[in-house]
Amino acid sequence: MNKTYGLLAEFSTHEELIHAAEEAYTAGFRKMDGYAPFAVEGLAEALGKKNRLPLLVLIGGIVGGVGAYFMEWYANAISYPINIGGRPIHSWPAFIPITFELIVLCAGLTAFFGSLGNARLFAGPRSAFDQGGAGMRKCAHVVIWGAHAPSRAALGALAKRIFVARSCPKLFGEGAEKGTPGACAPRNYGRTLYVFVSIFCVMVLGCRPDMANQPKAKPLSESDFFSNQANARPIPPHTVERGGARENTAFYTGLTNGTYITQLPVKLTPELLARGRERFDVMCAECHDRTGSGNGMVVQRGFPQPPSYHVPRLRNAPIGHFFDVITNGYGVMYSFATRVDPEDRWAIAAYIRALQLSHNMKASELTPAEQQKLGNEQ
Ligand code: HEC
Repeated sequence: MNKTYGLLAEFSTHEELIHAAEEAYTAGFRKMDGYAPFAVEGLAEALGKKNRLPLLVLIGGIVGGVGAYFMEWYANAISYPINIGGRPIHSWPAFIPITFELIVLCAGLTAFFGSLGNARLFAGPRSAFDQGGAGMRKCAHVVIWGAHAPSRAALGALAKRIFVARSCPKLFGEGAEKGTPGACAPRNYGRTLYVFVSIFCVMVLGCRPDMANQPKAKPLSESDFFSNQANARPIPPHTVERGGARENTAFYTGLTNGTYITQLPVKLTPELLARGRERFDVMCAECHDRTGSGNGMVVQRGFPQPPSYHVPRLRNAPIGHFFDVITNGYGVMYSFATRVDPEDRWAIAAYIRALQLSHNMKASELTPAEQQKLGNEQ
């Protein structure tokens, strides 16, 4: 008959507890457990218990990552393929954030529930503690039950070797008669339930919507407090943003005393023209085309045609006019103020001037060397 023998001992220090556990493990005992009122570093190892949590977390993370990538791939490439801005249907860089998040989420959840499960919330047979009495609660203990101890004698020998030899103060119940741990008490699930219910209660307590629904004014919402019924308050008159005084009116408006300026307010350099050309080709050429004659691609597709820059009126227009057109728009042409900085507006205006000159130069105005070059090219 396979009889169960058990042994229970109490130690006054946790070092003794660990030593006892180690020796029992070396002696071949596997079904044992140790209890202490505080966490004892190394006890789990000494009892031969493996911590499977890291592996579980790794598996959780892999499952989350593969699952997320699969869902994205399935949704984007198989079940509902949409062409978004020419992006490939299976575009892995776009899938990375969600994959990463699900790896973290699943690994985190596994760690949370795994450590709850690992924490031995099922305290095992209670009788072990009942035998230990009140002293069990005071100091470090080891509880060893030799479920598969070959015999009562083997257990007795172990007891002598490790516990008595160490002048263990208390030794309880030896053998099956006094307490077969497996048989004496049902597992204590009540405590687990208690922990989960407590966590649930705390989470539910956190579910108060006051913070989301507090009486606050969202920027563009309606208001019954202000007379104009808008929560957004107008900027007080004469407000100047920091660094935004813009006292140099010629530079910022292209005007002095209400008339367009005729001279560039910035220094004319090759760099300025190069910048102007680059910006013009990006911002303006789609309508005005690169030569400024007003046949850009957008116009060819139906946008109203702008006048050519090479008509006499615009050739004679002061440079401030071009700055003003970019700043405030002109007729059907919309303003570019939000897209082109004042510095760049002047660069573009200077470049438009250069474009105009390039189309309307008299050969006699060129230097002899340039005339020579022109002649060669023709
Ligand atoms: C979406 C097309 C479009 C873009 C982009 C565009 N324009 Fe225009 N532009 C027009 C049209 C159309 C007109 C004619 C507006 C009118 O007469 O109602 C015009 C007119 C002008 C005029 C002539 C104003 C006058 O006195 O007749 C200038 C100068 C000008 N644009 C400069 C620019 C500059 C500089 C840019 C780039 C920063 C630019 N435009 C970008 C469509 C465009």
